[in-house]
Amino acid sequence: MPAEPPAAARLLRPTRAEIRLSAVRKNLRKLKTLAAPARLLFVVKANAYGHGAAELARLAEREKLAWGFGVSSVEEGLALRAAGITGPVLVLGSLYPFESFLEAINADLMLTIASLDAARQVIEAAGRAGKKAVCHIKLETGMGRIGARKPAVLRIYDELSSSRGVEVAGLYTHLAGADTDPDYTGEQLSIFSETAGELEARGARGLVFHAANSAAAVNYPVSRLDMVRCGIAAYGLAEGFEPVLSLKTCVVFIKNVREGAYISYNKSFRADRPMKIATLPAGYGDGYLRRFSNRADVLIGGRRCRVLGNVTMDMTMVDVTAVRDAAVGSEAVLLGRQGGAEIAAAELAGLADTITYELVTLIPARVPRVYVE
Ligand SMILES: Cc1ncc(COP(=O)(O)O)c(C=O)c1O
Repeated sequence: MPAEPPAAARLLRPTRAEIRLSAVRKNLRKLKTLAAPARLLFVVKANAYGHGAAELARLAEREKLAWGFGVSSVEEGLALRAAGITGPVLVLGSLYPFESFLEAINADLMLTIASLDAARQVIEAAGRAGKKAVCHIKLETGMGRIGARKPAVLRIYDELSSSRGVEVAGLYTHLAGADTDPDYTGEQLSIFSETAGELEARGARGLVFHAANSAAAVNYPVSRLDMVRCGIAAYGLAEGFEPVLSLKTCVVFIKNVREGAYISYNKSFRADRPMKIATLPAGYGDGYLRRFSNRADVLIGGRRCRVLGNVTMDMTMVDVTAVRDAAVGSEAVLLGRQGGAEIAAAELAGLADTITYELVTLIPARVPRVYVE
């Protein structure tokens, strides 16, 4: 297991992502209860959407808050194993190069098979590993990303189930608009159940059928099937769940400027009156997007303070004229709550014309994740 940096090292720069474990716990419990008797696969790909996969998967495994974990690649699966995770891990991506099957099988990672070619390769890899490969077949129902259509799924099933080295454990699909499009979701689910029925008619037994992401698990009980695969709701970025991540820093520099002073690159802000301005040691190199320039607010002293001028790679300036006691060392919340005020992920995502998924996933490794209860 890689050594954790000492706590003191984390404090050498005040910019940090605070992850509230109590919120993760609460969200996972809520999902688990809502999904039951279906299982909960906790989707921790992309470093748990920026929240820290190892830490959150350990919490979920230790406290039995999820049946297993979803990752996007063999590397992510191996990282979970290295972090001590022993439970089921499903690799959701389509694997290439095929040599990675061998690594995955050796580490007991369950594989997604979405083509006949991949089916043949996994059979061969299982033979080489001398170990069973546990596979979930991916059905294309309308996402248009990875997945085989029904006739190909039936052929893949026949191929895989004819091999003693492979266990076909599940069939799944991914919904393209469970948060926005009930009709399309219904169409996808009906293609899925038709295919599931045909597999059963062919003698398939005990397969885990799954289709639901967070939005579907919450909004469409019929989509829950045998398992739900939830990411965003666990991170509290869906309605009815508790936000988990806050992006915080401290003021490192304060100045008073005259009317007409320019702030940041390319004269991107001009003071139209005397102002008090704070500099924060966080910028787009910390996932605080340049699109927030002159648009987003930051919380200091419990008040909203507007970002002034262009966000730079490592620093951002904000207007603290109205925050009398703002000083070097004052806490600044870029995302999250302070006192009664809140900068919600949805607000920032809206400013940057993106989605909350992208916003949190973009917070890079240089921002330490600090886990708090
Ligand atoms: C295949 C698959 N299943 C489940 C999820 C989880 O989705 P959500 O975060 O919306 O719950 C994802 C994430 O994009 C995914 O790619």
